[in-house]
Amino acid sequence: MRRLYNAAVFFYPRFYDIVWTMNADELRQKFLDFFEKNGHTVVPSSSLIPDDPSVLLTTAGMQQFKPYYSELDPEKTIHPSLGKPIGKNVVSVQKSFRTSDIDEVGDDSHLTFFEMLGNFSFGGYFKKEAITFAFDFITKELRIPISFVTVFEGSHGVAKDEESRAIWKKLGVSDVREQGIEDVFWGPTGSAGPCGPTTEIYCENAAGGKAEIWNIVFNEFYFPGSREELLSGSSGKSLERLKTPGVDTGMGLERLAMIAQNKKNIFETDLFVPFFELLPSELPEREKRIIADHLRGAVFLIADGVRPLNKEAGYILRRLMRRALVYEYKYKISPEFFISIMGETISNYGKFYSQLVKESENIRIEFENERKKFRKLLPHGLIQINHHIALDQELLKKDSPNINKERALSGFQAGLFAFDLFQDSGFPTEVSKELFEQANYDLTRFEAGVLEKAKKHQEISRRGTEKKFGGHGLLLDTGELKAADENELKIVTRLHTATHMLQQALREVLGPDVHQAGSDITVERTRFDFTFQRKLTSEEIKQVEDLVNQKIKEDLPMQKKVLPKSEAEKTGALYFFKEKYPDPVNVYFIGKDLENAWSKEFCGGPHVMHTGEIGKFRIAKEEAVGAEVRRIRAVVE
Ligand code: ALA
Repeated sequence: MRRLYNAAVFFYPRFYDIVWTMNADELRQKFLDFFEKNGHTVVPSSSLIPDDPSVLLTTAGMQQFKPYYSELDPEKTIHPSLGKPIGKNVVSVQKSFRTSDIDEVGDDSHLTFFEMLGNFSFGGYFKKEAITFAFDFITKELRIPISFVTVFEGSHGVAKDEESRAIWKKLGVSDVREQGIEDVFWGPTGSAGPCGPTTEIYCENAAGGKAEIWNIVFNEFYFPGSREELLSGSSGKSLERLKTPGVDTGMGLERLAMIAQNKKNIFETDLFVPFFELLPSELPEREKRIIADHLRGAVFLIADGVRPLNKEAGYILRRLMRRALVYEYKYKISPEFFISIMGETISNYGKFYSQLVKESENIRIEFENERKKFRKLLPHGLIQINHHIALDQELLKKDSPNINKERALSGFQAGLFAFDLFQDSGFPTEVSKELFEQANYDLTRFEAGVLEKAKKHQEISRRGTEKKFGGHGLLLDTGELKAADENELKIVTRLHTATHMLQQALREVLGPDVHQAGSDITVERTRFDFTFQRKLTSEEIKQVEDLVNQKIKEDLPMQKKVLPKSEAEKTGALYFFKEKYPDPVNVYFIGKDLENAWSKEFCGGPHVMHTGEIGKFRIAKEEAVGAEVRRIRAVVE
């Protein structure tokens, strides 16, 4: 039967299409079913915002399982979303995001957001079973032939992977190629973690689509440093053998769909075609791909609580949205197109990721708000860039020895300029880069320019901070607060509780779109940054102030409850998405009980016992600190 099938594919390239086209929903389900049938627990995808503070976004299925390889007992630890131990063997479909590939998006195979199918074992099985499962799934369940596989050639004190080679040979895969540490040695992610040699599966379909589809990692080691340190070999740190070796595998759903659906590239699969149908057909292919990738990624990031800001995950989201919005502007795409693409993403993926449906209104609102903001800055940014380019071209034309030709068309200079433009008007640097590229700049040193300026900028703000604290060491550092003595600690504690009350009052007066964007407390005042699109009216300021003072007068108790993070999230308590909270986490609430509390927040404390201790609360100043972020300074008297 296999032979007949292969022959059919060979002679009739469209054969896959006729009898064997599986859509992405079916592929996900087939994967989960196959491993469940083989003794794996199905674990839901974790959030794109990982618990691990050394990683910005979830880049692989193993992220949520990282501690199980070295610290946690999979048979005893309660998993936060399953509510029970996961056991030694698990399977998942994980939302993943890789910023490293952002510049490549637009070619045939790179994406920012993608879904990773993975099976994992924490001491349950190892090489033989892992390779056999993969082989069976690809060749028997999906009936896709394997073109070749790769194994680790050995280096950095780790032996050549003869065992994997022998297992593949025994299964009938004869093309086994050796590769080095750059390609077939996974991890560690973040600042330290499990790692080990991998074996990768490559497939090709009749349409000419080719991809490395599955990476099977054998986590035999723990490295107490970053991957860069491991590769450099000069950190002085060395690989430690894990007590129980584990398995971590990852297969990109988009690539698998491409092979299984007999397509030349991932954008021809059912995961993307519906989006393309919603875009004006005259748009260039590369732009279409970038828009589809970026909007899809933005939808998933917003659904996981990320908001467009100028820092960290918020900045990544902002970059995705703004790059798409530049195309919208440039090609005069009507705004409904993007909204319908986002709607399509929600309905296509909502069956599997219900969070998208729940957050659909927020997704729309965040996108509309960001569009409004960026539309105000966009023409200005474009003018500035065009001006810079025009000036350079002028310089090039002039034939005078006094002209600074260094500057002309220099990627480094463009990078310096792009960082300033970003600082002043939130214009993403890669949008600038793209425009410089179209004007034929040599951009080899563009990033170096951006970094140079960013470093200078950081230096300036660091000096500013030192000045603020008068260069003295801080004596007390308790919970989230810093104070020089007991007396100061009392004041900042009052201000701290008042800050929680301020946030709650703002949400009541201005609506639930208000989210914390930062905060800073000194003995003189509290400074609270929050998302909101416009200046507050004096009535609104007064209402907020009055509401806080009213609650102070009621002398409500401030209480704390320690809860597992997953439970704490269900209480509706507010948390700052950029902050990394421990698990279990403290929920501080104002009122008699948690359920009916007036204010609830994840927090490290310390706080007053009763709101009456705060005294009188007064808002001293309200101002903008970014296009969409307001800042309030308030005092207690
Ligand atoms: N963690 C491995 C990867 O992402 C499987 O490729």
